[in-house]
Amino acid sequence: MTTATARAYPNIALVKYWGKRDSTLMLPLTGSMSMTLDDFPTVTTVERQPDASADTFELGGEVVTDEPLRRVAEFLDLVRERSGVREFAAVRSKNEGPTAAGLASSASGFAALALATSKAYGLSLEPADVSRLARRGSGSATRSIIPHFAVWRAGDDETSVAEAIDAPDMRMIVVVVQARQKEVSSREAMKRTAATSPYHQGWITTTEEALESMIEACADGDFTRIGRITETNAMRMHAAIQACDPPIRYLAPQSIAIFDRIRALRDAGMETYGTADAGPNVVAISRPEDADAVAKALAEFGEVRVMAPGPGAELLADSE
Ligand code: PMV
Repeated sequence: MTTATARAYPNIALVKYWGKRDSTLMLPLTGSMSMTLDDFPTVTTVERQPDASADTFELGGEVVTDEPLRRVAEFLDLVRERSGVREFAAVRSKNEGPTAAGLASSASGFAALALATSKAYGLSLEPADVSRLARRGSGSATRSIIPHFAVWRAGDDETSVAEAIDAPDMRMIVVVVQARQKEVSSREAMKRTAATSPYHQGWITTTEEALESMIEACADGDFTRIGRITETNAMRMHAAIQACDPPIRYLAPQSIAIFDRIRALRDAGMETYGTADAGPNVVAISRPEDADAVAKALAEFGEVRVMAPGPGAELLADSE
């Protein structure tokens, strides 16, 4: 029996991934860039089960069936195919963050799963190979393999992997917003955006430009330019999503109020910019020295956490 345990952290994109060119290979329409967080990790153990007749999946101590199990089992199939080992496995996973915080748990989840599974099945992979593998589970997981800052190029099956990029030190101030509306999965919403949003093409063109500008701004250590690109890119993603038919709106009234506060802080001389993924939580970015003041100013909107650039996916243990 071979077992491996890995830990990976969520990441938040400064230039977003929104749309697939190939949904089997999980190739994105555009490149993206992110910061890996230093909190809310997922820890996953994969234990091969020579006598089992199916994979099992436990999340936070609860047995999971249906769609999440299907996604995990499909992912394990890929590794079984590559390793030539046909055994099923028991997967036990734990998200260390507050449950249902809606914080990129598919990114940390599939990044940890990719590393643990590849080890448990005896594959010896370089970080780029683990990143390529993680991509097949969830696009954003591609970037969680990499510590600190990552660029994930659109590429093809071989080249669509994340790589480290230098960027000036910064903090992410995560505001966890409670929202009641039912979420549409990012998978479904990406499809609907491509099929029905009149702004889809504009999203693709401007995101390609945004990524090139972001790479320049990172090389220059230009936080102001990084912040502007980040906020504009997030707003454009949400504009494209909201223009779907039927429309999808991830931002809650509270989210909009946070973006307004971020702008007000900026107007008052505190340099911070906002972004939001496919949900109501808002993430502000700031220079390290401003993070506590920004966190204090946003605390009235929900639970606030200050995060620094965090580690890439790591193997915690493996055993024969
Ligand atoms: O790979 P997914 O299904 O977790 O999609 C991620 C989409 C966004 O979080 C909205 C953007 C991004 O680049 O992480």
